[in-house]
This record gives sequence, C-alpha cells and structure tokens, in this order.
Amino acid sequence: MARIAVMGSGAGTNLEALYEEFGEEIVLVVLDQAEAGILKKAERFGIKVVVEEGGEDLWERILGHLDGIDLVCLAGFMKLVKEPLLGAFEGRILNIHPSLLPKYPGKEAWVQAIEDGAEESGCTVHFVDAGMDTGEVVLQARVPVLAGDTPETLHARIQVEEHRIYPLAVRRCLSRI
Ligand code: GRF
Repeated sequence: MARIAVMGSGAGTNLEALYEEFGEEIVLVVLDQAEAGILKKAERFGIKVVVEEGGEDLWERILGHLDGIDLVCLAGFMKLVKEPLLGAFEGRILNIHPSLLPKYPGKEAWVQAIEDGAEESGCTVHFVDAGMDTGEVVLQARVPVLAGDTPETLHARIQVEEHRIYPLAVRRCLSRI
C-alpha cells in the first residue's frame, strides 16, 4: 500500500478521480483554503483533512503533516511549493496543470488558450520544482479548442482528460519510488 497526500483547494474533481483509482491509499488531504468543494469530497471519502492557509512557517507545518507519505499530488493548489517541503519530497511531488506545458503556465490556463486563439490545448502532469509549472513532464493529453468554446466548456473538456491521466501518472511514479 502506498501513502498518498493530495493538496488543493478547488472543486476536488481530481481528488475524486484519484480516490476512485487508489482508494484508501489516499490518506491525507491538505487544503490551502478552508471553504472548498474538495473539503466535502474528502469528508465523504473519509480522508483526513488538514487546513494550512499561510503564515511564516507554512511549509514546515505542511511538511510536519507528511510523515510517512510516499507521494504528494497537487490538484488546484494555489501556492508555489517552497523549502523545506520541496527538498524533503524532491521527485515525489506531482501537479496537474490544465494546458500543454510549457504553454500557458500560471492561472486559468484555459482562458489563456482561448485568448491566444489556440487550436488545441490539454493538460499536463509534471513533477514540481521551484518554478511556476516548470518541472519535468510525466504525462500529457491533448484536447481540441472548438469554435464557440467558452472558458467553462474548454475547462470541462480538459478536466475529462485530467481525470484520465492523473491516476496513470501517479501509478507510473509510484512504481519508481
Ligand atoms: C484543475 O483544472 C487543475 O488542472 C488545476 O486546478 C484545477 C483543480 O480542479 N491545477 P479540481 O479541484 O481537481 O476539480
């Protein structure tokens, strides 16, 4: 059995996809904002939740929760990961990003794709380093950008692929740890 922590503060749809694949191997959810859909999902699945919203020793405190964790999966985590967490979990922190990195790093990548007139976008699972969405790519999936797409319709199409490739990428990484 692996021990996986998921960190985020979004709707929690990737937590749900990971839970469907890994079940009780997901032992902890760390929220960086208190009121989020991910909280309700974590509670429904019976996963322990901690909330760490900020403060000077934020990364020490988060690291303190991760004792015995094999892999950390970011999904809608809105802060850049810093030391000492980064070094302690080098090569063991993954993130899912809603674009074909290196295109459209940062916030609302699906809006960036539409505003850029892109014909396709997608999602990327990558290792986390000190940069903004810059770490080594593990898996990517492509989706078309269709005429008439709104940010919402494109994000929804990208999320279908996120939920497919994130569990695959986690499985691949766990086999190497
Ligand atoms: C996803 O689109 C992910 O790519 C981005 O934040 C969103 C989180 O969604 N980093 P959810 O909370 O997993 O539904």
